[in-house]
Amino acid sequence: MGRRTLITGGAGFIGSHVAQAFVAAGDQVTVLDNLSTGKREQVPREAEFHKLDITSADAARVVREGRFDVICHLAAQIDVRKSVADPAADAQLNIGGSLNLLEAVRASGNGTAPRTRFVFSSTGGAVYGDLVEPPTAESAAKDPQSPYGTAKLSVEYYMGYFARVHGLDTVALRYSNVYGPRQDPHGEAGVVAIFCDRLIDGTALTIFGDGKQTRDYVFAGDVARANVLASSATLPPVSALDSRAFNIGTSVETDVVQLAGALKKLSGASSAIQHAPARPGEQLRSAIANDKAGRMLGWRPGVALDDGLRLTYDWFKHRRTEART
Ligand SMILES: NC(=O)c1ccc[n+]([C@@H]2O[C@H](COP(=O)([O-])OP(=O)(O)OC[C@H]3O[C@@H](n4cnc5c(N)ncnc54)[C@H](O)[C@@H]3O)[C@@H](O)[C@H]2O)c1
Repeated sequence: MGRRTLITGGAGFIGSHVAQAFVAAGDQVTVLDNLSTGKREQVPREAEFHKLDITSADAARVVREGRFDVICHLAAQIDVRKSVADPAADAQLNIGGSLNLLEAVRASGNGTAPRTRFVFSSTGGAVYGDLVEPPTAESAAKDPQSPYGTAKLSVEYYMGYFARVHGLDTVALRYSNVYGPRQDPHGEAGVVAIFCDRLIDGTALTIFGDGKQTRDYVFAGDVARANVLASSATLPPVSALDSRAFNIGTSVETDVVQLAGALKKLSGASSAIQHAPARPGEQLRSAIANDKAGRMLGWRPGVALDDGLRLTYDWFKHRRTEART
């Protein structure tokens, strides 16, 4: 019998890759998702599925009674602009929902330290801000620029509390910009999905500003593997905020001009590349150092950007062909 593993958000873009990776590892997988952006057909067939909201009492009961060895918590509102438009709604879901699950894990211990490892999907793209030269290490000063980043960092602080006071076994994975098959164009790294759609349509790729702004693009399959490794790694006890936090990125900066050029080349499409005015407040450079994940989780990115972009483009192209037939 494999371990019992719960994936919240397992019907979503990254969560469905995570669920698949745990199924492949032989775990008994349960997915909890309210299908607000996720899709039922993205949940692996082998997984048990609960259509529930993470803020609900029913979701807390699933966690309390599920005797899970591992919980990977990915369910979230992921649109930074939505968090800016309505910070309270973002906090209710991204902080409140996470606290509902953490409280349920605590209660499942019946007064003793619960045996569940809780792996939280945090963000390396939105907690550090623009303060230091990339690639940014986990220990760098935190300076979230949005309610979304602030909520993710808050959950990390809450996990520190639950670990120290109630003995919870928590890990935070701070992803850079994740891309890959099944990506929705509205997420943190939506640009790859948007460009793929435009190339297939033969319409222009729009670059905001000079296109020299950089991001760290990590492939979804590599992020899924990081979750599996984090679920069983032997780690030191939780001490300060960053002790159990790991950047999951490539440490490499890629600018938007390079990204558009690479995608256009591999697609062979005739789309033009056009520039629009820079978006105010956009972070100029971002990449996160991954050596700590290498040392302590044994994780390194395995898919080079060109290969990952090709896999992603092919997936979008295939989906379009299927939709037509
Ligand atoms: N995409 C990125 O580049 C990126 C970067 C850093 C961190 N993350 C984090 O990774 C996680 C997954 O993101 P994604 O890009 O796959 O987004 P996604 O929107 O595809 O996945 C989120 C999933 O959570 C579900 N969900 C949303 N609200 C819920 C609720 N109240 N109750 C139950 N389920 C709910 C959605 O239906 C969806 O299936 C998120 O926590 C996100 O913050 C993503």
